[in-house]
Amino acid sequence: MRDVAVIGIGMNEQWGELWEKSIRDIFVEAALNAINDAGVDKIDSMYIGCMSGGLFVGQEHLSSIMADYLGYGNIPATRVESACASGGLAFRQAYIEVASGMSDIVLAGGVEKMLDVDGAAATYALSTAADQEYECFHGITFPGLYAMIAKAHMHKYGTTREQLAHVSVKNHKNGSKNHRAQFQFETTLDGVINSVLVADPLTIMDCSPVTDGGAAVILCPLDLAKKKFKNHEIIKVIGTGHATDTIALHDRKDLTWLTAVELSGKKAFEMAEKKPSDINLCEVHDCFSIAEICVTEALGFFEPGKGGPAVESGFTSIGGKIPVNTSGGLKSKGHPVGATGIAQIIEITEQLRGDSGERQVKNAKVGMAQNMGGSGGSSVCHILEVN
Ligand code: COA
Repeated sequence: MRDVAVIGIGMNEQWGELWEKSIRDIFVEAALNAINDAGVDKIDSMYIGCMSGGLFVGQEHLSSIMADYLGYGNIPATRVESACASGGLAFRQAYIEVASGMSDIVLAGGVEKMLDVDGAAATYALSTAADQEYECFHGITFPGLYAMIAKAHMHKYGTTREQLAHVSVKNHKNGSKNHRAQFQFETTLDGVINSVLVADPLTIMDCSPVTDGGAAVILCPLDLAKKKFKNHEIIKVIGTGHATDTIALHDRKDLTWLTAVELSGKKAFEMAEKKPSDINLCEVHDCFSIAEICVTEALGFFEPGKGGPAVESGFTSIGGKIPVNTSGGLKSKGHPVGATGIAQIIEITEQLRGDSGERQVKNAKVGMAQNMGGSGGSSVCHILEVN
């Protein structure tokens, strides 16, 4: 296998309600930004993460339409779907294609346009990533599923309501410094706890929003990056891991434990020859506040049950022991489901380049991105390092 580098990154100017842009405009804008950032003049192949073009905008067959609209010829293009982990998985497929020697310049992107439908239709589209027969037919939604995980975590470990709210307060603070974030406002513990209740104990301020947005990165062999693409610090992909788990929560032994996250993390750490204490910053899948706590435990940053106290004591803030979601996370930056995993790679790449401005983590050399599908039915992890 060849070593692989990330040489270009691109997103839309800001995520949120992009009424004036179609799904193809959103993707192509992000992709062209990545192509310009890399300085490449061709693409050999591309992968696009998208969860539900059909239900959100009535458009499937996205790979062909996006390749056509991008204008780089009749290149092979593959749409990748793994619910909210579609972007992370698209990145992994692009990595494998470059590492295998099959292609040199590969674009990994993601897109979702979720705000063309009303809230009920968006909730239905998202719920297709849960178990239809055993969960959705009984009326459960994703906020409801994560609320059950939160209740179980509170019961088992004594995790407090305030600790959940600390996740949102931190991520909104980080997002207030990110010009691309959907919500660039700060909040308080009271602001989170006393906002509208969605599914007890989660309020709207514990939830990631519904978002329009796209993101893209360019990968190439490390040797080629060193020879030809020296515009930026060279960022090497040193670990990748992917795992699946039961979709339905009731099939799991422990509601508080995300096995796919644990296994995908272990594989990425093993390949990178790193351990959690070697990681300088991490982007994780905080679709709901409780998710960030469970993920940081499953990845081994904290003992089971200690994720809540860790966020409360500032360990995961910028300047803390292991900054988590410096971009603002899904909570503040937004969560256009198919694009999220790619945007996580972009945040890590920008931090490792030293280009994150007010959000910059000092001496960031090794970063990790963790992207999750549904309530943990799939998870993809990547570790990147300054070469
Ligand atoms: N956090 C903060 N503010 C939010 C928000 C969020 N998650 N979601 C919406 N808002 C704001 C809107 O910007 C709007 O503000 P405005 O009145 O100032 O314009 C207001 O709240 C109402 O927005 P609306 O779109 O009507 O909210 P909603 O009640 O339809 O949706 C949720 C709120 C929480 C139900 C929705 O964001 C949601 O479903 N989130 C979870 C998404 C999800 O499950 N993703 C997959 C994860 S696995």
